[in-house]
Amino acid sequence: MNVIKITVAALLMASLASAASFNTQAEKDRKALIAYMEKKFSDPAKNKGSFFPYSTNEELSKRFTKGIKRDAFRLGSYAYDKGGKSQYDEVMEMPPFEDNIDAGKALYEKKFANGKTFKSCFPDPAIAGEYPKFDDKKGTVVTLTLAINECLKANGEKPWKMKKGKMADLEAYFASASTEAGKKVHIVIQSEAAAQAYEAGKKAYYSQRGYLKLSCATCHVQGTGKRVRNEYMSPLLGHTTHFPVYRLKWQGLGTLERRIEGCNKDEGEKPHKPGSPWMSNVLYFMAYMSNEMPVDGPAIRK
Ligand code: HEC
Repeated sequence: MNVIKITVAALLMASLASAASFNTQAEKDRKALIAYMEKKFSDPAKNKGSFFPYSTNEELSKRFTKGIKRDAFRLGSYAYDKGGKSQYDEVMEMPPFEDNIDAGKALYEKKFANGKTFKSCFPDPAIAGEYPKFDDKKGTVVTLTLAINECLKANGEKPWKMKKGKMADLEAYFASASTEAGKKVHIVIQSEAAAQAYEAGKKAYYSQRGYLKLSCATCHVQGTGKRVRNEYMSPLLGHTTHFPVYRLKWQGLGTLERRIEGCNKDEGEKPHKPGSPWMSNVLYFMAYMSNEMPVDGPAIRK
């Protein structure tokens, strides 16, 4: 009896140990990113030489916030840009996405033709921080957008477009339910195949692309705190915590997929399709970087 117990315990521990090890590299990457961003923004004026050689002292000492810690980076550039933050706070007093959240809730509760609802796939709507997941049976990353479409198909409904409209509304409801429930980003790398998908996403994020030879990291890691066309660039850290986002430019809500497509175009690259392996792997990598940060959506951006 005792021998059996010990064997079972040993097996359990062995499987726990290997489950933990699949995210070893990802944990290193995540901690390094947090350390980089916290150091960069500990005192931007003092760090001018190492991080902001082309910024003016005036900008760094007067316009930027100092001593920013991990969770605050979910605000994107508004974490450090004082002017942007005060405009953000003003708009958030009467957020323009309230109707979208209501429409999303109605979609969540609406019956499919077969009489079931989204609840049959997602009994708890506070799941924004749980995606993307790696599905070991399929061997692919499943983003929240793909999971929603899978639920529709499983119930005999047509899948939705992945960038705005109903998709963004339902995701806004999930994000708001998660924020209200105090949920955190919780991305799991539970197998060798999942670790490979993470690595593929990371590689895509750091590779130079398009005729401009820019990588996502050029702008959202090294470039954070610098400007492009008069817009301050936000950090990779916290990029997935608050989507979908209402953009003033769009005059409406959009999913992460929609936003990234815009950045692909800015890079001089043909946009990657929402739902493609490229997009799913990149989103898996990005979401892992935001692990443990509070879910904080929907949000507003210029
Ligand atoms: C030339 C610089 C540049 C490159 C390269 C770039 N972006 Fe962006 N990105 C921007 C700018 C500018 C914005 C708008 C301001 C901001 O929030 O950073 C933005 C916004 C975003 C946002 C929205 C952030 C938020 O909180 O709303 C995401 C997500 C994003 N980019 C992802 C990516 C990904 C993924 C890639 C690589 C495929 C990429 N970007 C490449 C410049 C860039």
